[in-house]
Amino acid sequence: MRRKIIAGNWKCNKTRAEAISLLESLLLAPPPPSGRQMVAIPPFPYLEAACTLTAGSHLSIGAQNLWTSDWGAYTGEVSAPMLASLGVRYVVVGHSERRQRFGEDGLILKEKVERALAWGLTPIFCLGERLEERDRGQAFEVVADQLKKGLGGLSAEQLHHLVIAYEPVWAIGTGRNATPEQAQEVHSLLRGLLTAGWGESVAQSLPILYGGSVKPDNVDALMAMPDLDGALVGGASLKADDFLRIAGYREG
Ligand code: PGA
Repeated sequence: MRRKIIAGNWKCNKTRAEAISLLESLLLAPPPPSGRQMVAIPPFPYLEAACTLTAGSHLSIGAQNLWTSDWGAYTGEVSAPMLASLGVRYVVVGHSERRQRFGEDGLILKEKVERALAWGLTPIFCLGERLEERDRGQAFEVVADQLKKGLGGLSAEQLHHLVIAYEPVWAIGTGRNATPEQAQEVHSLLRGLLTAGWGESVAQSLPILYGGSVKPDNVDALMAMPDLDGALVGGASLKADDFLRIAGYREG
């Protein structure tokens, strides 16, 4: 059985005190069912406190981004070895907000994935089509291209340490989630591409998360789909009750 991951991407939200309070609420709650990993992804400035607070607990910590080089004259950037030295376990790579607002694509994202893997971090590699691409019937083509550009050339061994998140851009922060069937269709396509590129073992073990307006009231139906292995949650991860309900989704 593939491992399941429920990750909360806090984006550019919360003061330090609010961040600590949210983490404390998540830690007080009973852990999610076994085989299910809960991940909080706070902004950079709170990562050290978050790692200290959650050490040895059922809550793992992720970062929202990283730089393409380990060290050097890159003012303002944060690198994989820095994150690893804090105890960060996961790192989001290629979120659509980074792709759209910061022009990240292709080679840059592949370098980020490689740096993360080199330092033992698990990349959560995001991909997904925009509304106009879906309307033109190009959703599969776009997602396949993003997969190839971001991960092409990596080894099967490297992909065993990676997580993918399918996030249709039109569903992010809009309250308009993909239907379970729409999500399943793309997840199944991705699994087919993973089989073709890296073999059955990678395709069957790599968790593919869904993201885009996942809420307590739609998570059960989404997670009932065979190729959805968890969720990357934005807005609903900012409230402990909502995030815990999502992490505790009912199976079947
Ligand atoms: P959302 O964001 O849940 O607020 O739609 C998801 C994401 O951007 O990862």
